[in-house]
Parts: sequence; structure tokens; C-alpha cells
Amino acid sequence: MTHPKILITRLIPDAGLALLRQHYPNFEVWTPDLPMSREELIQKSKGVDGLLCALTEKIDAELMDSIGPQLKVISSMSVGVDHIDIPAATQRKIAVGNTPGVLTDATADQAFALMLAAARRITEAERFLRVGKWQTWIPNLLLGADLAGATLGIIGFGRIGQAVAKRAQGFDMRIIYHSPNAQPAYNATKVDLDTLLKESDFISLHVPLKPETKRLVNADFLSKMKPNAILVNTTRGGVLDQTALYNALKSKQIFAAALDVTDPEPLPMDSPLLELENCLIVPHLGSATKKTRDKMAVLAVENLIAGVENKKLPNCVNLEIYL
Ligand code: GLV
Repeated sequence: MTHPKILITRLIPDAGLALLRQHYPNFEVWTPDLPMSREELIQKSKGVDGLLCALTEKIDAELMDSIGPQLKVISSMSVGVDHIDIPAATQRKIAVGNTPGVLTDATADQAFALMLAAARRITEAERFLRVGKWQTWIPNLLLGADLAGATLGIIGFGRIGQAVAKRAQGFDMRIIYHSPNAQPAYNATKVDLDTLLKESDFISLHVPLKPETKRLVNADFLSKMKPNAILVNTTRGGVLDQTALYNALKSKQIFAAALDVTDPEPLPMDSPLLELENCLIVPHLGSATKKTRDKMAVLAVENLIAGVENKKLPNCVNLEIYL
């Protein structure tokens, strides 16, 4: 086979690039920090056999067709694939790869970090200190919530949801979950959604973004939560309605929220959520550890190489193409 034509849409960690270089030294990689524009993506991807992308690129039918019928594989350096039109890829027999498993612990750690930070008002407290408001120890200053003895409700009990439960056990939490097809693990009890909303002091979201989970967290959902409850989102911003969340936080219908993801990303600086002390927001860093990003890059490259070589991807999202 002649050398496949490959485009990597973002500067992925060296671990991945080095592996690819061993197999195919000639590939194009987009190195600026900001993703390429849609026009640049359309232009640069024309004629490639393999595309390695990230969640910052929208990979739809139009792009697949503009790339051409030789396209064999779309490998995303992410576990989420909501930015890719999977049915369109399947229809065109294009393999889609993702990077599950390797980011489970890092993302569960991030969910837990956000949970603790929101419970103990860490970012709010730091802002308080930095503007010079710390004058003395005050018995009632910035009081937060305990994890020990609290009920954690996990929505979506897949790999990451379960890894959050595993951590919660060590914090002496009662764990309940809602996830229709998942078996119990880590002392977590399966409940229906309404029970989870009614009983949870903390709710952590771990469902992928799909039509059925879009805006799952809406005004009705929030109205069923406890007034002391803390909501943590490390999945996708589209899973919640940010206007409804703003209203619930502003009116203290719930205690706090901690978001790793927003819709859109980046969150516009005039978003009303940024006015709220009880809303902690970080810029989509769930898997952002050095080791994890290295593993994701390597896995994404392994998927890419398998795809251009007409082999089954190590992690394929649309296995139907092999039937
Ligand atoms: C990150 O959000 C991912 O899907 O890997």
C-alpha cells in the first residue's frame, strides 16, 4: 500500500505522534492552540485516508463527503463522540474510534475534586482571600457541606460513574445510581430518577450526550433536587439547560453546581453563570493529566493506524461496519 494520507487536527501529546511516526512518518498535524476553522478543516482534510480529531471538530456527513470515499477511519482523542455523526460514518463504512478506559480514573478524580471543591466552597473562599477580605477566623464563615454520611446520586453508571462510586465509598457516602442497564457495584443501590433527585445531597452526571440525554437537567429536574444539593457535571454541557441551572442557583433552589463542561465551549464571558458565587466552572479538564492524555493520544493513534490498514480498531464505536 502506498503511504496513507493522514491529518491530525490538534497537537496531540508526543507519545502519540512518536508512535505514528514509527509507522507513517509523513502526516499533517495542525499545531496552533486554537482549532482550525471549518473552512480550513474542509480544505486540509480533502483526500485523507485517516483523520485523527478531537471533540473540538464537528465531523458530519458533509465533511465526510468532502474528504472523499477513500476515508477509512475517524479516530477521536476522546471518549465522547457526540461531535461525530456516527450513523453517517457507519453508512459510509468509515470506522470511528474513541479512547474509553484510559481516562476513567482521571475523569472520576475530576468529578470528585469538583464535588469537594463545591462542597467546601474552595474557589469562592480563594476569591474571598485574594480580594483581602480575610480579617480573622469567623465561626460561621463560608460554611459548606459534609461528604461523610451524605447521599451521592450518580446518573449514568458506566465506567466513570462506577469509578466515582468507588471513590465515594472511601468518603463514607451512601451511594445510589440511576442507569437502566447497569448492575450494582461499590455498594451502590439502583433507584429510579425521581428517587435519586429526591434523596441525593450530591448528584454527579455521567451519561453521554445523546438525543435522549440532551437537557436532561432542566427546570423540572432541578425542582426535584434538595435545597442543599450540589450538582456536578463532567460529561457534556448539552446534558443540562444552563438557563434553568442559573435560575436554580440564583434562587438557592439548590446549593451549588460544579461544571467541567459547558454549552457552548468556551463559555462566553458574559454568561450569567459567571456572576454566581455558587457555580464553579473549569474549562473541560476531566481527562487533563499528563499520563492520561499520553494514553489517550497513543490509543487514538492505534485506532488510526488500524483503520488506515483496514484492520479492526482497538476501540471502535461503530462495530456494525465489520458485519
Ligand atoms: C472528553 O470530554 C472526552 O470525551 O474524552
